[in-house]
Amino acid sequence: MRIILFAGKGGVGKTSVSSATGLAAARKGLNTLVMSLDTAHSLADAFDLDRRLMDKNKGQPVAVADNLAIQEIDVVEEIDKNWGEVYRYFATLLNVTGLDEVLAEELAVLPGMEEVSALLYINRYLRQDNYDVIILDCAPTGESLRFVSIPTALEWYMRKLFQLERRVAKVARPVVKHFTDVPLPGDEYFDALERLFKRLEGVEKVLTDPAVTTVRLVTNPEKIVLRETQRAFMYFCMYHMSIDAVIINRILPARAAEGYFEHWRQAQLEHIEQAKQFFSPVPQFEVPFYDNEVVGAEALDRLGRELYQAQDPTDVFFRRPPYIFEKENGHYRLQVHLPFVSSEDVELANRGEDLIVRIGGFKQHIMLPRQLASRNPSGAKIDQDRLNITFE
Ligand SMILES: Nc1ncnc2c1ncn2[C@@H]1O[C@H](COP(=O)(O)OP(=O)(O)OP(=O)(O)O)[C@@H](O)[C@H]1O
Ligand SMILES: [Mg+2]
Repeated sequence: MRIILFAGKGGVGKTSVSSATGLAAARKGLNTLVMSLDTAHSLADAFDLDRRLMDKNKGQPVAVADNLAIQEIDVVEEIDKNWGEVYRYFATLLNVTGLDEVLAEELAVLPGMEEVSALLYINRYLRQDNYDVIILDCAPTGESLRFVSIPTALEWYMRKLFQLERRVAKVARPVVKHFTDVPLPGDEYFDALERLFKRLEGVEKVLTDPAVTTVRLVTNPEKIVLRETQRAFMYFCMYHMSIDAVIINRILPARAAEGYFEHWRQAQLEHIEQAKQFFSPVPQFEVPFYDNEVVGAEALDRLGRELYQAQDPTDVFFRRPPYIFEKENGHYRLQVHLPFVSSEDVELANRGEDLIVRIGGFKQHIMLPRQLASRNPSGAKIDQDRLNITFE
């Protein structure tokens, strides 16, 4: 089983690239599913499918080509199936605190339900071995990070808070009843959460296994988009997910760059050069700006071909996490994979959110997480092929 997540800023081409990758994998004979994690689903549009067909299918996979299915999760359907008691508790809670019943039900769709529903499907497909490849078409960056953070957060909640909350609810229920109408969650709520958690067990391990799951960041050769791509790159690293490609989409071809677009093309070339500095050694793939939207099998086939050329789209293109953030004995540490260097060569500079690592003529910008951005690097040490940077 192979899982590939396509993430990136809104509108950069995630859905197009996910669909093209799925189609390319299916063409190789692999049983493939492309799943949309975005509430504003647009997979069906990329495949030029009748919306009604998707709606009728209630969020289940729909076959779109040989070996290829697409799935757009329908959160309303999932609530019935997975969230019964949890959902009912929140709906009652909101209702007794003064909200109209319909509105309370609407609001009880918690942020994260969609993502957890997707995780439940992924786990089920894994256990039942339904697919060779699962492609995840993510929502824009912020939400896709929530998706990858959910398994860890849930595990933490179940281990640390859950037992405590359950005991408190048990003791407090008879007392609280006399003072307020606000219900404390009953045993059904806790049982439902526990069942849900059981069904999610193991999914985190799969998502952080670099041999199974990799992230591909889709970006455009523009300053602001690249900035967000760097940020996403850092966050996925922090969640121990492995990034095996950066896909630069919408590059103006030389022949389109005469006259009006000349300046755009020049700026794009500079940004592509910059992307190299930011993301190497993670390989970068390039996709031209087409003269039309990428809709339908023919256009997707072409995108897939030009993107991967002769390579297998399901290969793991890069295997090492390029950097690892850790906290050890209260000290933050950043580990950067840098083969062939010695300590004398390394120069560090902290500029705003960025740490600039200069080694001879080579320069790498690493965007730092908030906890680190305000600290100065206090030391750097080479350990085999790794550079360890500690922070004050
Ligand atoms: N290389 C390209 N050339 C021409 N059009 C493109 C290219 N890549 C994507 N598009 C078009 O741009 C639009 C947005 O692309 P897409 O839906 O794939 O982006 P997205 O990142 O999934 O957006 P969202 O964040 O809204 O989900 C679509 O109409 C798509 O057909
Ligand atoms: Mg999309």
